[in-house]
Amino acid sequence: MRLPDLHGIAIIVLASSLLANPWTAPRKGQEWKLEPPSPEFALPTTTDAPVVECAECHAEVSREWQESAHALAWRDEHYQESLKKRRQPELCHGCHIPEPLLALEKLPRKPRPRADRLEHGVSCESCHQGPQGEMLGPWGVQVDAHPSAVSPRMSGAGADALCAACHATNIGPVIGVAKDFLASGQAERGKSCVGCHMAPIERRWAEGEEVPLRKGRSHALQTPRDPAFLRRAFALGLETDASGSSLVITNEAGHRVPGLIGREILFSATLLDGSGDVLVERELQIDSRSYLPVGGQRRIDFQRKGSSVRITGSHVDPRSPEPMTFLDQELD
Ligand code: HEC
Ligand code: HEC
Ligand code: HEC
Ligand code: HEC
Ligand code: HEC
Repeated sequence: MRLPDLHGIAIIVLASSLLANPWTAPRKGQEWKLEPPSPEFALPTTTDAPVVECAECHAEVSREWQESAHALAWRDEHYQESLKKRRQPELCHGCHIPEPLLALEKLPRKPRPRADRLEHGVSCESCHQGPQGEMLGPWGVQVDAHPSAVSPRMSGAGADALCAACHATNIGPVIGVAKDFLASGQAERGKSCVGCHMAPIERRWAEGEEVPLRKGRSHALQTPRDPAFLRRAFALGLETDASGSSLVITNEAGHRVPGLIGREILFSATLLDGSGDVLVERELQIDSRSYLPVGGQRRIDFQRKGSSVRITGSHVDPRSPEPMTFLDQELD
């Protein structure tokens, strides 16, 4: 009798558990299915985009990053403009041109600014460089190009903490949205910053024939300038009782909406009767003061019964030249 090849089985199990564990793999049914970002208004990130050394081998990841606000964080004209009014602008620089955060013993509560290559903004090294100059990643694949190591800050809840180092403080026009996320226990429900803002993608992590195709996460961030993504922040429901019909808007994002001073979201709702005639028109605006908290609801009461509601949503963002329509829908 031949013994089954247990070694082979053990190796397969080990390999698949290694593949499943470290990377922030999408969790079925819990994580949003994300499309590649398709902003209606793109940031001027690619004009004079800085060339990073890493792009020599990580060309595709670098192109994704170049599209993101992270690559623009220093060159951003809104940022540079807002510094002019400050007596101590250097107090602002920590998150816009940070030193490598993971080279420090603990994640800093106030990241410190670096003195060189300012135009790289939130650079590759800001997030990836470890204490000995090694590149920290979700897998720690060993390569000749540079020492690599696994970091718990590169996947799961550890990556949320990395994002929160810069996204949890209220300063200037910025609202620390990560505080909402951390306080609302969503990580326990399988949600993460990376899961909603960095779409899963299959591509080579670096160029080169010997480099295999792997699953990863796009560094081109999902942002509210993308109508389809902003739309997902809101669940809509129509309720009717004795006092009339109401539209209920629920925040499904991982934090308050909107999350930046100067942004406004305007809903216009029209109650229609069975033959499509207008019964009542109502508006609702949310902004940084009247924001929707995590899971929060706002009702538009029509005080009459109708058979359907037409709702449109428009977004005013200081970074967009004009208001953007992100929602136009009829609910029965
Ligand atoms: C703790 C980290 C941190 C510090 C310190 C910081 N910022 Fe920022 N800044 C951010 C983050 C995160 C964003 C992105 C916020 C968003 O898009 O919701 C941002 C974005 C901005 C923007 C861009 C908004 C736009 O319209 O494009 C401006 C302007 C800005 N910050 C000004 C400042 C000023 C002024 C200071 C100093 C008073 C400052 N920041 C200090 C983290 C920081
Ligand atoms: C000379 C080529 C080269 C350069 C330059 C280079 N890398 Fe890499 N890097 C690689 C290769 C090859 C891999 C492994 C890819 C694979 O096997 O999927 C890798 C892997 C990585 C990983 C993944 C580690 C993990 O968890 O497995 C990170 C993160 C990384 N590099 C960051 C950087 C950063 C940041 C820079 C610039 C400061 C940089 N690299 C410069 C070739 C390079
Ligand atoms: C070192 C500080 C820092 C870290 C760490 C950081 N961010 Fe940012 N992030 C910024 C700054 C600064 C901006 C805004 C730059 C600007 O607009 O000028 C920003 C912008 C963004 C935006 C874009 C908003 C928009 O409207 O374009 C998103 C989304 C975002 N960050 C998500 C993340 C996620 C997810 C993580 C963790 C993987 C993360 N950030 C980690 C500093 C940081
Ligand atoms: C704001 C923080 C941040 C910045 C800036 C950043 N990365 Fe990453 N990067 C991450 C995180 C988080 C992951 C892990 C994503 C996951 O799998 O959960 C990652 C993953 C990677 C990987 C593994 C492949 C993948 O797609 O997951 C490589 C390679 C990499 N980054 C290279 C770079 C390079 C090169 C730059 C600059 C052009 C850069 N990163 C900028 C946070 C960052
Ligand atoms: C369940 C999905 C989800 C999670 C989890 C999530 N976000 Fe968001 N995020 C969204 C949506 C949807 C928007 C667009 C709504 C809006 O405009 O505020 C958004 C907007 C943003 C913006 C732009 C805010 C602004 O007003 O400029 C930033 C920055 C951001 N998220 C960072 C983060 C960070 C950091 C984390 C983790 C601490 C996180 N997000 C977790 C869904 C999510």
